Amino acid sequence: MKKVVVVGSLNMDLVMEVDRIPKIGETIKGEEMSYLIGGKGSNQAVAACRLGNEVTMIGCTGKDTFGDKVLKHLKEEGINIDAIKRDEVIFTGIATIFKTKDDNSIVVIPGANDFCDKDLIDKNIEAIKSADILITQLEIPIETVEYVLKVAKENGVKTILNPAPARKISKEILMNADFITPNESEFEIISGKLFKDGNELEESMINWQKENPSTRLVVTRGKDGSSYVDENEVETMKAIKVNVIDTTGAGDTFNGALAHGLSHEFSMNEAVTFAGAAASLSVTEFGAQTGMPKFEEVNNILDIK
Ligand code: RIB
Repeated sequence: MKKVVVVGSLNMDLVMEVDRIPKIGETIKGEEMSYLIGGKGSNQAVAACRLGNEVTMIGCTGKDTFGDKVLKHLKEEGINIDAIKRDEVIFTGIATIFKTKDDNSIVVIPGANDFCDKDLIDKNIEAIKSADILITQLEIPIETVEYVLKVAKENGVKTILNPAPARKISKEILMNADFITPNESEFEIISGKLFKDGNELEESMINWQKENPSTRLVVTRGKDGSSYVDENEVETMKAIKVNVIDTTGAGDTFNGALAHGLSHEFSMNEAVTFAGAAASLSVTEFGAQTGMPKFEEVNNILDIK
């Protein structure tokens, strides 16, 4: 079993099913409301764990009912939760998700996720040092992201930065990220360029990769698959066609599965194909984590393709 450490957010997702996203100043009536465990960190931890990895989650929740539910759930999934700090004062992170038939919009209130600090990293340094791969995202303080990537890199641990929610990324952070995995709109923010079409996106990917040779860029493109740059050319792995129920957590599944592939020494092509297949399966069920597949399920779908 490979050891995966995830440093990131834990949220309670309040999912509102709506026909469409409300306009500014408008009130609309929704259909259903569900409370589901989420947070990009927790989702990525579950994705990696379902694929058969030994996963440790480092993050922070409040000492409240939502925090209790998040921890109970992660423990039941088989994730090591010893490195999750519980803050006495602040509430557990909350994401309000407006889910339409085809897509979603999310508002995140970080709450305790903002208390995932350098001190917590130092306290859990041994878990990080012994990991095969570490994943982090941007729903925790940026100083923590920068610090944990540096610590991991200094200790020879492979690192994946999932730059979501997107913001400009400093050179100090990039220096210690072996892989970066934005979606198309996140890549627009990171590269500072807007793309009219796929050709412009690919041109920007090639340029970005030339300027940042030490960080491998992988762009997730929804139904268009996922792409990376190899010897100045963009390689695209097509998405597997599935019946889409809920796209929430597809990117997180991709990252958890990419961590599986990269820690098992898959080639770049194999790792991205595997991650894409896992992400495709994840959208066939409602909720961020419900459809996250087991290893055999990903293998089966790749075999029959
Ligand atoms: O990536 C999906 C996740 O983003 C949701 O689970 C929500 O918690 C937000 O963090």
